[in-house]
Amino acid sequence: MAEQIEWEPLQARAVELMNRAYAPYSNFPVGAAGLADDGRIVSGCNVENAGYGVALCAECGMISDLVGSGGGKLVAVVCVDRTGEAIMPCGRCRQIISEHGGDECRILTPEGDLSMGEVLPQAFGPANLA
Ligand code: THU
Repeated sequence: MAEQIEWEPLQARAVELMNRAYAPYSNFPVGAAGLADDGRIVSGCNVENAGYGVALCAECGMISDLVGSGGGKLVAVVCVDRTGEAIMPCGRCRQIISEHGGDECRILTPEGDLSMGEVLPQAFGPANLA
């Protein structure tokens, strides 16, 4: 039975970050918020660049916040677009979330509350390097 996540505060933090995004090129601001296993909420927004290809996704900022504020494991993640609705993280970001949340981490998607194992099946992870 999956843990019941209180999505409202997490989604509210993601919206807060989305409003600080730097996305002048795509005009597609994204905010990401994650719940760490010690109860911390970590967050990030996308940061674009005149060199389009070097844009940083919101999830990258969120992971940097997780690691820089003490590490730990992600229990739940939500990413939102300008409407405040949940979006599905891009493939690269699913890999990044998977590293720090594993298959059990919950993710709020347009299809509802899913696990990382469902949205990134057969993930390549730390165990593959053992
Ligand atoms: N973006 C994210 O921040 N996260 C995602 O999971 C999908 C895409 C950003 C990158 C770029 O700044 C903008 O959204 C449009 O692709």
